[in-house]
Amino acid sequence: MTPEPTDRELAEPDLTDPATYRRTDYLALWRAVRRHRPIARLDSPRYGPFWSVTTHDLACQVLEDPVRFTSTRGMRLGADEAAVGAAAGRMLVVADGAEHARLRAAHAPWFRSNEVAAMRDALRRRLETELEPMVTGEPVEIVQRLASAVPTWVVGRMLGTDDADTARLAALVRTAFAEETDPAERTSRRAASAHVFGYFADLLESRRADPRADVVSALAHEPDPERRLTDEEILLSCDGLVNGGLGTSRHAVSGTLLAFARHPDQWLRLRRDASLLPSAVEEVLRWASPPMHLMRTATREVELGGARIGAGDRVVLWIPSCNRDESVFAEPDAFRIDRRPNRHLSLGAGPHYCVGASVGRMEVRVLLQVLLARVDRIELRAEPVRSASTFLHGLDRLEVVLLPIQRPDREVTV
Ligand code: HEM
Repeated sequence: MTPEPTDRELAEPDLTDPATYRRTDYLALWRAVRRHRPIARLDSPRYGPFWSVTTHDLACQVLEDPVRFTSTRGMRLGADEAAVGAAAGRMLVVADGAEHARLRAAHAPWFRSNEVAAMRDALRRRLETELEPMVTGEPVEIVQRLASAVPTWVVGRMLGTDDADTARLAALVRTAFAEETDPAERTSRRAASAHVFGYFADLLESRRADPRADVVSALAHEPDPERRLTDEEILLSCDGLVNGGLGTSRHAVSGTLLAFARHPDQWLRLRRDASLLPSAVEEVLRWASPPMHLMRTATREVELGGARIGAGDRVVLWIPSCNRDESVFAEPDAFRIDRRPNRHLSLGAGPHYCVGASVGRMEVRVLLQVLLARVDRIELRAEPVRSASTFLHGLDRLEVVLLPIQRPDREVTV
């Protein structure tokens, strides 16, 4: 029998040190923590004390109870507290109750509109063109060439901004929301954030005067007074949508390629049976788990998994660990495209469940469809480099080879 890990072993390495996630054994570390201390109070050298939750059931209890676990104090560790305070109750992801419901009602219709279908067709055409020179059998670096590009095209389409502006915006947003490793970086983060808001203010003005089919125009010209947002709320919405749409989707795209490169049998299976596409999308999201953590703050004293959480205590949910909880997912480390049910938490749960979920799923689905039509095999060329981040879970570098399907009509005869 393996001895129980000591408290010291369970506390190390530091879960809040971004470098931890460059290690190859962090999933094994979580496995041990899930078994022995699914909820534990940690004191992080970076972020101070918080409760760390690693199991699916406890995470759901938190996410589904916004009365006892609020989002208004921020939904991630290390966020700029002043910025969170200014946005609380006026920005979807940091609002609760009636305020959250009002903001959500203003956003949700656009995500159900024909615009998302049009976005899907535009993404398919773009991916067909951009993937063509990558499916050659030569090594391709996926993170820069594809995974960062796809969400930028999608967010650009959502806002109605051109490629150059969207890429600049994406870079500013990355700086504004970068994990703070050094307080001296706060000034550059705030400057980037001011630029981003300045850009959104100009965008809003132009869409007020000249509405188009994008989400900013939809919010600016909302006919229902009950759903109409203030200008400031619209600017915060733009910020939330860009933030929500960029980072996580990037890791979903690179995660798609990595999952099938590591599991060629599953690629073959999907090629043979396209009816597995919907469950394959869900399994990619579970296996890749783009969010690293979500956070809530207790509004009162609460009992959770046998622990007494104090009012004002922060509770951090480690999503890749919850998505590999063996009490919910059989053989959780296996990547199985027919996994059903698949109650992963990659898109959250409860009232804050990802409002852009239809778009996030669409990105993975269209990518797979375009790859299926062209790619015979996806092979890893080098060990991928994981991102050093405690907020997002994914890759900084992924080098693969996309081997084209040999079609008889394309074969050269001698
Ligand atoms: C595969 C890609 C995506 C993943 C994995 C993902 C993940 C998540 C998660 C876990 C949450 C819950 C946050 C919380 O509970 O505090 C969330 C919320 C949100 N997401 Fe996404 N997301 C994705 C794509 C998108 C896209 C494309 C957009 C924008 C078009 C978007 C916009 C948002 C917004 C605005 C919220 C806040 C919703 C609310 O608080 O009610 N996400 N997302």
